[in-house]
Amino acid sequence: MKIIYAKDYESMSRNAANIISAQVIINPKSVLGLATGSSPLGVYKQLIDWYNKGDIDFSSAYSVNLDEYVGLDSSSDQSYAYFMEQNFFKYINFQKDHTFVPNGKNLDAQNECARYNKIISDLGGIDLQLLGIGHNGHIGFNEPGAAFEKETHQIQLAPDTIEANARFFEKSEDVPQKAYTMGIKNIMNAKKILVIASGLAKADILYEAVFGAIRPSVPATILQLHNDVTIVADADALSTIIAKVPNAIERLPK
Ligand code: F6R
Repeated sequence: MKIIYAKDYESMSRNAANIISAQVIINPKSVLGLATGSSPLGVYKQLIDWYNKGDIDFSSAYSVNLDEYVGLDSSSDQSYAYFMEQNFFKYINFQKDHTFVPNGKNLDAQNECARYNKIISDLGGIDLQLLGIGHNGHIGFNEPGAAFEKETHQIQLAPDTIEANARFFEKSEDVPQKAYTMGIKNIMNAKKILVIASGLAKADILYEAVFGAIRPSVPATILQLHNDVTIVADADALSTIIAKVPNAIERLPK
C-alpha cells in the first residue's frame, strides 16, 4: 500500500483528483468506481475545476457508484444518485448513459444486484475505485462482519452508520435501514484502489485498516491484500499511523 501524506483536506482532494485525472488521461475510456459522502466532495470539486479549464475530458469514461439506499432514487435529495448529480455529474461531461448507480427503487434485491454486477462486468470491470472509509472500517456499505467473497448485495445498515449518516437527514429515523452495495469482491477486483480519508475521527480506523489483522469485523483490512492501493489522507487522518509507524508514509514533510 502506498500512503500519501496531504497536509489538509484541500491538499488531500487535489492529490486524489490528480490520480483520477491521470487515470482518465492515460485511458479516456476508464471505468471509475465512485463514492459519495464527505470525503470525495473536494475531489469532485477539483476535477470540475480542471474540467472547466479544459484539462480533463470525461466524454469517453464510465462510472459505477458503490452504493445506494434502498427505497430512494435520483428524485430523492438524500439518494446517492442525487448526490452524484448535484456534486459532480451535472458539472462535467460524462455521457448520461455512461454513469451508473444502483437503482434504489428496484425493491427486488436479487434482480437489482444481478443487474448491477452485470453492468460492472459488461464494462470490463473497474479501472480505478475511489473509496472513503467508515468509522467502523466499512468500505462501500460493507459493514463489519461482511463476507469478503460477496458481489453487489443488499445490506442492513449498522446502527453507527445510520447515526453517522443522520447528519444528512432531518432525524435518524429518516435514514433508510437498507442499502445496495458493491461487495468486497467487486471492490477487490478493481485494477487500482484509491482510498481517501480526512480528519481525526478517521485516524484510528485508518491505522487499523493498514496494519490491523485482516478480518471481516474491519472490512477495510482486506485492502491489504490488493496489489495496487493508494491511500491519500490528511495529517489528522494519518496521525495514528504517523505516531506508530512513521516510515509507512511517502512524502512525509520534514
Ligand atoms: C459512500 C460509501 C461509504 C463512505 C464512508 C465514509 O458511497 O460507500 O463507505 O465512503 O461512509 O463516509 P465519509 O466520506 O462521509 O466520511
